Amino acid sequence: MYVIAPSILSADFARLGEEVVNVIAAGADWIHFDVMDNHYVPNLTIGPLVCQAIRPLTQAPIDVHLMVRPVDRIVPDFARAGANIITFHPEASEHIDRTLALIHENGCQAGLVFNPATPLHYLDHVMDKLDIILLMSVNPGFGGQQFIASTLTKLQAARARIDAYQRDSGRRIRLEVDGGVKADNIAEIARAGADAFVAGSAVFSAGNDGDANRYDTVIGALRARLKEV
Ligand code: DX5
Ligand code: ZN
Repeated sequence: MYVIAPSILSADFARLGEEVVNVIAAGADWIHFDVMDNHYVPNLTIGPLVCQAIRPLTQAPIDVHLMVRPVDRIVPDFARAGANIITFHPEASEHIDRTLALIHENGCQAGLVFNPATPLHYLDHVMDKLDIILLMSVNPGFGGQQFIASTLTKLQAARARIDAYQRDSGRRIRLEVDGGVKADNIAEIARAGADAFVAGSAVFSAGNDGDANRYDTVIGALRARLKEV
């Protein structure tokens, strides 16, 4: 039931295909794909061409996290490039309901991403349009930052909304967390209600010398901590 989604932001981009194959072979569930535009966030990363390039290398879902403004223009491009899940920040879209519909029309699962200071009230009228809710536990833009502790209470609040919605509708929405997740905090993050975990530096800093076995060790450690929950 728990999903581990390594963020390739911290992978070795010179060997990206190999990194994707190795991290999935080591037991990761999804590939988390961070898209930054040097506009909505102060960094510039990868786009649909890179998504398309890694698509044939794995059957694992590609979880595209859009940190871009505007959002809608790029959604069909990522769907064509093989994305399975597309999430975006509500502040970055002029029409949140329309963007969620656009993602679904393009055959992908859809979700909203909340920055540390973004209120959860954006959920109020769109629960039936969401497959996933992503809470940022760092400010978006960079890997390797410290987990912000107040995310734990926010996760509990999001979990309560999701559980209430599931009781009414029978539909399950995933709760993902992104930023500063490591073996030493993943258990308390899970206890707060998260069921999908992005980990960038925790996974890839362990194996950047090309020793794929180390990904096994880190992902094994994350799963071992989750078993205690
Ligand atoms: C930050 C990105 C994250 C980041 C996580 O803007 O959305 O996905 O890569 O990296 P770590 O796990 O190193 O905090
Ligand atoms: Zn991300």
